[in-house]
Amino acid sequence: MTVDVEPTVTSAKVSGSGAAGGAGAASDVAWHHRHLIDLDVVTWPEIELIMDITDQMKGILARPIRKVPALNGRRVTTLFYEASTRTRVSFEAAARNLSADVVSVSTATSSVTKGESLVDTVRTLEALGAEILVMRHSVSGAPYLAAEVFGGHVLNGGDGWHAHPTQALLDLYTMRQHLPGGDLRGRKVVIVGDILHSRVARSNIWSLTAAGADLWLCGPSTLLRGFDRWAAAWDGGAIPGHGRFQVTSDVEAALRDADVVMALRIQRERMQGGLLPSLREYAARFGINAERISLAKPEAIVMHPGPMNEGVEIAPDVAVSGRAVITEQVANGVAVRMALLYLLAGAHEAAHVGEVVR
Ligand code: MLT
Repeated sequence: MTVDVEPTVTSAKVSGSGAAGGAGAASDVAWHHRHLIDLDVVTWPEIELIMDITDQMKGILARPIRKVPALNGRRVTTLFYEASTRTRVSFEAAARNLSADVVSVSTATSSVTKGESLVDTVRTLEALGAEILVMRHSVSGAPYLAAEVFGGHVLNGGDGWHAHPTQALLDLYTMRQHLPGGDLRGRKVVIVGDILHSRVARSNIWSLTAAGADLWLCGPSTLLRGFDRWAAAWDGGAIPGHGRFQVTSDVEAALRDADVVMALRIQRERMQGGLLPSLREYAARFGINAERISLAKPEAIVMHPGPMNEGVEIAPDVAVSGRAVITEQVANGVAVRMALLYLLAGAHEAAHVGEVVR
């Protein structure tokens, strides 16, 4: 499909059979989702649709003037209850690139500090004209509550330990750019770090198993708690033909012959006592350093969702090495978020003709 200036597109021709990895006959894919809170309800053809539109958004970002009128007159509000640099800034840049009006609510200076509830805040923002609400909250599930009371679209910018769907999509997009043919099937993708507290890891499980990757989650056993049971019971949710994933504390086995290595931050702010003896010990046993990364394939890429604790989960020299694609992830985040804002705004239009089913 071609991204036009009109925000009415809800379907596109993309290749995809609906099975993991997506090779197969072209099919028409419609975007049915009113909100995007996690990827557990997003099918592989829909993920391919997002990737396809992201390609076109990248084309817009490569122009001398990186702005199109697609969301002209539409109102995007960002409501972040937790700290953020890249997610918030890239959502706001994405919305502005599509000519939306952007309102940015800082909870530190809003009525939230006077005790206003999430529900009241969301209702107030809607009364003030918000149509797409991009939110981040420290409580897992908070966007579902917002979606219950909000008449527009909710886009999750990260909730507690639960989900960070736009991060997983930009991660997938970046991996596809670097892997031959953009195909993740059978590719070894290793996520190393604080899996337990990571919404990034949880959302990546949905998208990477849908893509058919050989996904490994690695970290100290205290930071993998529950994931072994999840891996054993994994059925891929809405994603037919998904792959499986495995968990291990053997970092050398995980890194050996990896195609993609993603380091995750040790989330000290969510850490209860006793999960790690010390950061120094974590760095010594699990940190992605030059010696460990040499176990991966020579062409393997190194990723990190940021913010990084350099010297803890990733050595500074690895973070700036030729393998690292960390700044590409950040740049791709703008294009992915443009694609999602565009799709959600289109679904909103379609609501008038009764096409939205969710
Ligand atoms: C997040 O918001 O989850 C970040 O992208 C990753 C992190 O905080 O470590």
